[in-house]
Amino acid sequence: MAIERTFSIIKPDATRRNLTGAVNAVIEKAGLRIVAQKRIAMTRAEAEAFYGVHRERPFFGDLVAFMTSGPVVVQVLEGENAVAAYREVMGATNPANAAEGTLRKLFAESIEANSVHGSDSAENAKIEIAQFFSGNEIVG
Ligand code: PPS
Repeated sequence: MAIERTFSIIKPDATRRNLTGAVNAVIEKAGLRIVAQKRIAMTRAEAEAFYGVHRERPFFGDLVAFMTSGPVVVQVLEGENAVAAYREVMGATNPANAAEGTLRKLFAESIEANSVHGSDSAENAKIEIAQFFSGNEIVG
């Protein structure tokens, strides 16, 4: 199996409720290593660029407003098949559909305030990581 990296965001609903450590405990218990991490206030421009693929979706404005409503923690996670592994750890986008034990089942409040983001492909992971981290900030 391939060791790969994925990009993660702990979203404002989770940082607001002081859940960064609780989320990280689930990530680490799943065997993923946090090889980079920083707490930032995402700017409107950063959020619009990050979610640019969803620009035409009806929820785009709300999503950008939510992601800039409080601190987020951006992370790089490393492990075997990290992209797919982390999506399994996160659970379904809508917490109503998320499996028991997943981050969104445990912590998410709604489809918008769903606590975490994870890349949907290895290709997008590289792009997303590069948006928020320089190479020397990632220590594997
Ligand atoms: S996709 O592309 O159809 O699979 O889209 P999806 O993964 O379902 O959602 C993409 C991101 O948009 C967020 N989302 C929403 N935000 C606010 N309101 C509504 N109704 C809504 N629906 C989806 C969803 O949480 C995804 O965010 P990320 O950060 O990528 O997980």
